[in-house]
Amino acid sequence: MGPEIIANTDVLARQAARRLAELSGEAIRSSGRFTLVLSGGATPKRLYERLAEAEFSRMLDWDSIHIFWGDERCVPPDHPESNYGMAFKSFIDRVPLPPRNVHRIRGEMKPREAATAYEKKLRTFFFPGHADPPGVPGFDLILLGLGHDGHTASLFPKAAALHEQKRWVVAHHVEELESWRVTLTPRVINAAHDVLFLVSGPEKAGCLKEVLQGPYRPDELPAQAIRPASGRLRWMVDVEAARLL
Ligand code: 6PG
Repeated sequence: MGPEIIANTDVLARQAARRLAELSGEAIRSSGRFTLVLSGGATPKRLYERLAEAEFSRMLDWDSIHIFWGDERCVPPDHPESNYGMAFKSFIDRVPLPPRNVHRIRGEMKPREAATAYEKKLRTFFFPGHADPPGVPGFDLILLGLGHDGHTASLFPKAAALHEQKRWVVAHHVEELESWRVTLTPRVINAAHDVLFLVSGPEKAGCLKEVLQGPYRPDELPAQAIRPASGRLRWMVDVEAARLL
């Protein structure tokens, strides 16, 4: 499916909120819960704020929704760069989501320990009672963004994590940002039932074109490594980001 091109970031946030509500309904009807993976960055913040508004908040069955993160910056939860902190302020703190349904990456821990702890949490949640899980988690919906260098989640160009087959969660130092990040690996992201990229702003136009229409070079453009095995992949992009397509 080609990208869905949307007039502006407000409409983008609403459309994404609608899609999320639809998918949560489907998942809860079929499995009794909805496992949602959040991304960081400015684009999804508007979506998160929509979720806290009465129109969507009332529609969502919060008791059955479980929130996870695709990546985290290695900072404490109250740090301005924390992806958890951003989501907490934007909606988690404003909706009746039970605290036990919030499964954050502990950015305040040492990066590798945070990655191990998060992977352990995923194992217990998705494969309770299995010492050796028979597969990888199949999240219902993973939200992703696109960095202007082609990164997604915290999978940056040339990262070894792009080829990781064993671990589900990896910590690595990102030289360009001089900071540590913890991220899900493509293998886990590609096992999701639905993956939704949200992209907005003119600064993303060149990269979006390369990712969607250029040759396949996932080591340079990690977003290209996201190709769900049997799940659905959808791109919602605003007209500014789509202007070169
Ligand atoms: C993060 C992300 C990251 C983000 C992109 C796009 O923690 O920074 O999860 O992959 O999605 O950088 O971010 P914007 O929406 O701010 O452009």
